Amino acid sequence: MADYDFDVLIIGSGPGGYVAAIRAAQLGLRTACVESRETLGGTCLNVGCIPSKALLNASELYYEAASGALAKHGVKLGSVELDLPTMMADKDKAVTGLTGGIAFLFKKNKVEWIKGRGSFVDAHTVQVGDRTVTAKDIVIATGSSVTPLPGVEIDQKIVVDSTGAIALEKVPANMVVIGGGVIGLELGSVWQRLGAKVTVVEYLDQLLPGMDGEVRKEAAKIFKKQGMEIKLSTKVTGVAVNGDKATVTVEPAAGGAAETLEADVVLVAIGRRPNTDGLALDKVGLSTNARGQIETDARLQTAVPGIWAIGDVIPGPMLAHKAEDEGIAVAENIGGLTGILNHAVIPSVVYTHPEIAGVGLTEEQAREKGEVKVGKFPMAGNSRAKAIDDTVGWVKVIADATTDRVLGAWIITAPAGTMIAQVAQAMEFGATSEDIAYTCHAHPTHSEAIKEAAMGVRGKPIHV
Ligand code: FAD
Ligand code: NAI
Repeated sequence: MADYDFDVLIIGSGPGGYVAAIRAAQLGLRTACVESRETLGGTCLNVGCIPSKALLNASELYYEAASGALAKHGVKLGSVELDLPTMMADKDKAVTGLTGGIAFLFKKNKVEWIKGRGSFVDAHTVQVGDRTVTAKDIVIATGSSVTPLPGVEIDQKIVVDSTGAIALEKVPANMVVIGGGVIGLELGSVWQRLGAKVTVVEYLDQLLPGMDGEVRKEAAKIFKKQGMEIKLSTKVTGVAVNGDKATVTVEPAAGGAAETLEADVVLVAIGRRPNTDGLALDKVGLSTNARGQIETDARLQTAVPGIWAIGDVIPGPMLAHKAEDEGIAVAENIGGLTGILNHAVIPSVVYTHPEIAGVGLTEEQAREKGEVKVGKFPMAGNSRAKAIDDTVGWVKVIADATTDRVLGAWIITAPAGTMIAQVAQAMEFGATSEDIAYTCHAHPTHSEAIKEAAMGVRGKPIHV
């Protein structure tokens, strides 16, 4: 056997790459990870999941204090002031703590971090700066970047992408968000809570593509009620920056009269695309599909034996936990074990208030596949939600009409992101709605609403 520098070389240290590296090292493989950023952790830890969630939490605290929302619970405050630099510093601290944590875990597990951009020389060799590194197996975990809007230049001051939007120096009076997907709604919510007037421009006729139809409609209602202006079926035809303002020209997606929107900040959030530029995939005979993704088999191996790919750079939802699970599976496959993945059960969560979460099939997808029964329970009937006076939302459980197997669930309520794990686990165990309905849930918890929705699949919930 050829003598390689490493058993496994991973390109990219996001939640896919760093998890793969640690798992490979745990399995006794000599492992290195190439990362071109200053810090480990990829999009998620540096400019994605973590900083956005830190700001979502802090902005919610500010909003509750400043809007008088706490006063109705008998918590009266004096004047409330926003200290944006401290809020941003706190967010940065969360990022540094976690990215530093990965560096620590790399050292602990003896994973070598090779700093720089990696590009293929051949199927077992990667060039990083002036270093040539060889490995028996190579994992591409290069993630994704913001999809640009043709003709619109990101300057990260007035026209920003998500990276600029988590680092604004002041609260914009008016913010126009292009794209009513997850980033648009999460980061739009952050700045709205801090005082911006937010207008979301979405090309499709509903927000949140890919989610359950009823969820998408309900989301539009909820965000409108919170004061967000939402322009559905609307396309942006131009963004002109003049001084410290921008003018966004929009028109109906189907064509019609144009109108202009004035903004202090424009957030472009129309999706992300896989990172493959500069990898020199051609040198190993690999190409990308029509969506720019690298295709793999079920074991995550590409068309070239010994080259594997995971995370945002391959097909599937662009989610950190999907990348992490693939990271573990790929390392186990390389290490001679059988990596376990179930792409049918990947939860997705929008971390707004309320949170919006789903797993499995949407009701539309389930109905296309066959007969289904649906149970729905409003949070207005949930005692915990009532006790804290936050009753927006509902739980929907979708089950196969014949076998009663749970096919999917959708939840809108403050802790929906935490609650959805229960349904994901139930689905992994092949649970029926009856299994959930007869599982004892602690009282008073939001999770009781899942039990009641499951009761509603075949019979009736109690509290409606
Ligand atoms: P990435 O995290 O993108 O990491 C890839 C790494 O590879 C990068 O650090 C990059 O620098 C490096 N790299 C690329 N090319 C090379 C090269 N040639 N050589 C060396 N290094 C290279 N997902 C969730 O599940 N929950 C969330 O709450 C969430 N919030 C998000 C919020 C925002 C604002 C954004 C933008 C994304 C969010 N995501 C969230 C999505 C999540 O960040 C991604 O799905 C996840 O990071 C993908 O992981 P990855 O390992 O595939 O790639
Ligand atoms: P997205 O795909 O969620 O939403 C983009 C939206 O922009 C879509 O609704 C689309 O129809 C719309 N759009 C596209 N072109 C447009 C145009 N020209 N004009 C108006 N609207 C247009 O993408 P987003 O929000 O950029 O997020 C990227 C990825 O990051 C997502 O795939 C998501 O999985 C991930 N992410 C996940 C989070 C989470 O799990 N909580 C948080 C943030 C991001």
